[in-house]
Amino acid sequence: MRKFHIHTFGCQMNERDSERIAAWLSRAGHVPAADEARADLIIINTCSIRKKAEDKVYSLLGRLEKDKRSRPDMILAVAGCVAEQEGENLLRRFPGLNLVFGTHQVGRVAALVEKARAGERVSLVGSLPDADRLEGYRPFHRAPGVSTFVTIMEGCDNWCSYCVVPALRGRELCRPPEEIANEIKSLVETGYREFTLIGQNVNSYRCGNGFSFPGLLRLAAGISGVGRLRFATSHPKDLSPDLIRAFAEIPNLARHIHLPAQSGSNRVLAAMNRRYTREDYLEKVERLRTACPGIAITTDIIIGFPGEEESDFRQTLDLLEEVRFDGSFSFVYSPRPGTRAADLAGPVEGGEGRRRLKIFQDRQDEITLELNQALVGRVHEVLIEGINPRPQTRQAASLTGRDSGNKIVHFPGSPDLIRKITPVRITEAAIHSLRGTIENNLVSS
Ligand code: 5AD
Ligand code: SF4
Repeated sequence: MRKFHIHTFGCQMNERDSERIAAWLSRAGHVPAADEARADLIIINTCSIRKKAEDKVYSLLGRLEKDKRSRPDMILAVAGCVAEQEGENLLRRFPGLNLVFGTHQVGRVAALVEKARAGERVSLVGSLPDADRLEGYRPFHRAPGVSTFVTIMEGCDNWCSYCVVPALRGRELCRPPEEIANEIKSLVETGYREFTLIGQNVNSYRCGNGFSFPGLLRLAAGISGVGRLRFATSHPKDLSPDLIRAFAEIPNLARHIHLPAQSGSNRVLAAMNRRYTREDYLEKVERLRTACPGIAITTDIIIGFPGEEESDFRQTLDLLEEVRFDGSFSFVYSPRPGTRAADLAGPVEGGEGRRRLKIFQDRQDEITLELNQALVGRVHEVLIEGINPRPQTRQAASLTGRDSGNKIVHFPGSPDLIRKITPVRITEAAIHSLRGTIENNLVSS
């Protein structure tokens, strides 16, 4: 039997793409290997959002190429964003590599692997007609679980000046609502309770006769068995009043939004081609909080974008103070090949970028801890996802789940409760997780 193993780097889109690759391979008779050493096909699904992500791919590829010397029958493949970016260059650079396939080729993986098995060194990248891109989403199957991602659209038309995504994932393409609904229904039947609708910019979802993202949320939330709905990622410029209203109106929509601000400086936001101002961003935050008091807000921040002065950085810190994000992902700017920002003057020197990053992250940690500590004593609805892999006490089984604001909560309880949404009283708070106790026996579906 053919056995495969997939290494996945990068974002939620990539995680879901790896599941799709696995589903297409399974259809063609391949099975997942128990571990990498037993696989005769190894696929690296790659990310190139920052140079560091790309470097990780190259070091793994180097290691696997060496392993291959003692396992000559093993097929080695690279998929995802680095594949799309580099194409045949990868075959030239890594003589042990058999196959390179880009972000649009997921549905063809089984046929490409057959070609590679027949001895050809294959590279297939570039765009496809919409119907073929959509076809790649046909198998809904994935390993069983409680919470899962459902891709509703792929690609991005925004062209933020620092970002490789539009060049590597193509233009925006939305999956039809009925397909998305069918996928969710079939996953409910296999036991999933929480669905995160994903795309590079989900707010710009639009299908055919004007079916918009809030409409899709209402459709998905109404499917019987959907305990909780999330979405990611939103672009502030497209956060519409209708979407903000959805938080007040849809009871099973999680009270959390990931809303990447990227910077608090209008000068930097303009150079990033973000098409909103700091004031626009703050206004949207206020509206969200009015419609949905207590909503958790998280963000992405890029530090050290070309031309970022100390005063611009201070404005980003100031935005953090004004919004008090529940959490953030922050990165030092990394120039990416082919992007507009790669040619901009005034790059911030690496050491200075790291200094600013540390200041930002330290302050974010303090704020996250303060916000989490303020939750102690409150009762939150937690969707129980599984057993806590690292329990502090051995007395009782320790369960783990997430509250509506996407915070991780650990608490003692019976594994029978997995998949249930349960009220938990928060008793302790740390930066990355909360602890609590089940409030009573009132357990809903
Ligand atoms: N350098 C640093 N961070 C980047 N991101 C995207 N491109 C870059 C880059 N060139 C960050 C943004 C985005 C997140 C997914 O990655 O903050 O929201
Ligand atoms: Fe990249 Fe901007 Fe598109 Fe996000 S919205 S994927 S940051 S270009």
